[in-house]
Amino acid sequence: MGKKQNYMNYRSITGFIFAIALCITLNSQAVEAKTVKVTMHAIETAVDIDNSGTKYDAWTFGGAIPGPVVRVKEGDLVDFTLINDKKNGNSHSMDFHAANVDVLDEFSPVKPGDSKHFKFQANSPGVFMYHCGAANMAQHITKGMFGIIIVDPKEGYSKAYPKPDREYVLIQSQYFKDSGDAMAIVNNVGWTNSLINGKIFHYDPLHSKGLANALESKPGERVRIFFVNANVNEPVALHPIAGIWERVYLNGNPKNIIHGMATINVAVSEALTVDIVSPSGRTTNNAIVDHTMKAALRGAITVLTNSPDADPKMGKGDKILPR
Ligand code: CU
Ligand code: CU
Repeated sequence: MGKKQNYMNYRSITGFIFAIALCITLNSQAVEAKTVKVTMHAIETAVDIDNSGTKYDAWTFGGAIPGPVVRVKEGDLVDFTLINDKKNGNSHSMDFHAANVDVLDEFSPVKPGDSKHFKFQANSPGVFMYHCGAANMAQHITKGMFGIIIVDPKEGYSKAYPKPDREYVLIQSQYFKDSGDAMAIVNNVGWTNSLINGKIFHYDPLHSKGLANALESKPGERVRIFFVNANVNEPVALHPIAGIWERVYLNGNPKNIIHGMATINVAVSEALTVDIVSPSGRTTNNAIVDHTMKAALRGAITVLTNSPDADPKMGKGDKILPR
């Protein structure tokens, strides 16, 4: 009799625990998908395009090249507003490559002094370019109107998609010193430099004329790079000199894994995720380059220093896109 009672207690306790666990799971799933409000201002302003303070009349999202990093979770609703500053001289628009909408509606141009509001559900995990699509699009993109939206997978990290120790955003773009002639840009005439996160040799202390800070990690750490090819005419041959991409996730989707790549070709407007793991026990450096020499020597070289002295805050939180 006593035994049976114990058994019944055991059964009801297990059932109770199971019910609570189910509740928590269902609740956390319901809570997970949220609405993320994103507001951007189109701002036509002068920015520095190198580490020596050379000014350039840019068109931007939020006053800097590239625009702000947008980071959401798969399934989130992005509630977006574009405000086109009334001081601007041009119409601007927003084209999120992560959205499944109507090009003639959500992505249509906004006149100076006007604003545009739309929503989309970020249903595909990965990394995506966003950019202004107003005419002439080549000019608006080279002028600086682009950025990245990261859609983290709803499953989180796994064996196939391990948690990285550090994350960095690198966005490459073409710089035309004389960007007034839109058709010259379309025809790649007058392409003077390549920018990484808006600057020539931004994180390359060897080639930069001004003070440049390399990206940092500790020996043996997994560094994840979210890369966007925001060039208008040139593909990118992305290679980490003195290293190997341990994994490449095409379009940043954890399901699209390629192992052990030396160089990965990145099409115009493509975004992808690459992981690199440096040797442990010694300080090393990688030069992350566009192996296409005409782009590397125009500014597309980024140094990653793997040293025990690495700043513990770099490549984390809001420091994944060092300005
Ligand atoms: Cu624009
Ligand atoms: Cu596009």
